Amino acid sequence: MTENLYLSGNFAPVADEQTALDLRATGRIPEELEGRLLRIGPNPIAPDPATYHWFLGNGMVHGVALRGGRAAWYRSRFVRDDEVTAAKGWPPVSGPQRADALGGGLANTNVISHAGKTLAIVEGGNLPVELSSDLETVQRCDFAGTLPTGFTAHPKRDPDTGELHAAVYGVGAERIQYVVVGVDGRVRKTVDVPVPGSPMVHDCAITKNYFVLLDLPVVLDTAAAEHGSGFPYTWQPEYGARVGLLPREGGAEDVIWREIEPCYVFHPLNAYEDADGRVVIDVVRLPQLFASERYRATEGPPALDRWTIDPRGGPVKEERLDDRPQEFPRLDERLVGKPHRYGYTVEVGPGFRFEALLKHDLRGGRTERHEEGPARAFMEPVFVPRSPDADEDDGWVLAYTYDADANRSDVVILEARDFSAAPVATIHLPVRVPFGFHGNWIPDPS
Ligand SMILES: [Fe+2]
Repeated sequence: MTENLYLSGNFAPVADEQTALDLRATGRIPEELEGRLLRIGPNPIAPDPATYHWFLGNGMVHGVALRGGRAAWYRSRFVRDDEVTAAKGWPPVSGPQRADALGGGLANTNVISHAGKTLAIVEGGNLPVELSSDLETVQRCDFAGTLPTGFTAHPKRDPDTGELHAAVYGVGAERIQYVVVGVDGRVRKTVDVPVPGSPMVHDCAITKNYFVLLDLPVVLDTAAAEHGSGFPYTWQPEYGARVGLLPREGGAEDVIWREIEPCYVFHPLNAYEDADGRVVIDVVRLPQLFASERYRATEGPPALDRWTIDPRGGPVKEERLDDRPQEFPRLDERLVGKPHRYGYTVEVGPGFRFEALLKHDLRGGRTERHEEGPARAFMEPVFVPRSPDADEDDGWVLAYTYDADANRSDVVILEARDFSAAPVATIHLPVRVPFGFHGNWIPDPS
């Protein structure tokens, strides 16, 4: 049997939760960084190597707290779901639960802070899971009973309003649901947008006037679902591929759909409206996904592309910005939905190796690369501004890393404007952090 990539090397789960205080660091941790760098990924508690898929492992959240120029702690905790609590003999998770929850209510894809709560989140219909500031599971959360179905791993926070904008899908539902969560932590708007199948909708984007929907040809395969496939989505190019522009205060009938070349996009970098009212969307584009090889997350190189859509009409202009294989695009999140100049990604080398961080200057047309030798792998970069009113790119890029020689992880802090240089600080963790998905910098309340 072929080895399951997602149970080997640093994709493999770790056995235990860890707590370490007063971490050793090299260099100088900027004193302005007061908060927690959180990250989450799958950490399956009892995976079957024959069927395990990376997307379906029980969640584990990792955090490093920075205070006063010191790394105060590292913690890792399971995001408790029914499988985890049963296996560990822990009490069940309280709070609401969906009858059709996947994996006993797992949440493994992103960790955010909203309305004063730390939330572990996932797509496909499951509810968010609220965590304490020390990353212990508190309870499942349906936004005080206001969330109609499930949520998503990739809500977009409008920097002007603080509201979250989300594209929600459910396995088998032939619709994409636009959900807006207010700053009070309650859903204030939902729009059900019908689509002709049940696509996997991983992410979304916003602009000043539009919510951007991705209706792409990775679609529920009912035959696979009936045969009990753990992840019953396949590449179905005949489904077509289109981008929808939903006016943010409009209804389903107002969506402007535009066809694009078949592809899959897990992650837009950002979207905005240019001076002529065209919608510009920068994305990491995969030429196809789940066409053949179930244990690979990508088939064909994921590259950085730009789509330009004129809502008044005409075809979508599709351009390649950078053809290096890359994923996990991030930006200065004060610019979500607004014109951006810079983006940060992970370069993905042969063998699905996360070998460098990239910083794209999309106005200057230049890319800088940060690498630290062949043993060092990088996880998703997170930008933190130096101060609330600092310029774009004036701040730090933080990332969890994995050192294959030491079989251990660090957190590196890069000066964003000196991206290729050695980190200003490297925080040494006592354990490895498995390759996972996403995370965020969550500043301490001021
Ligand atoms: Fe994602």
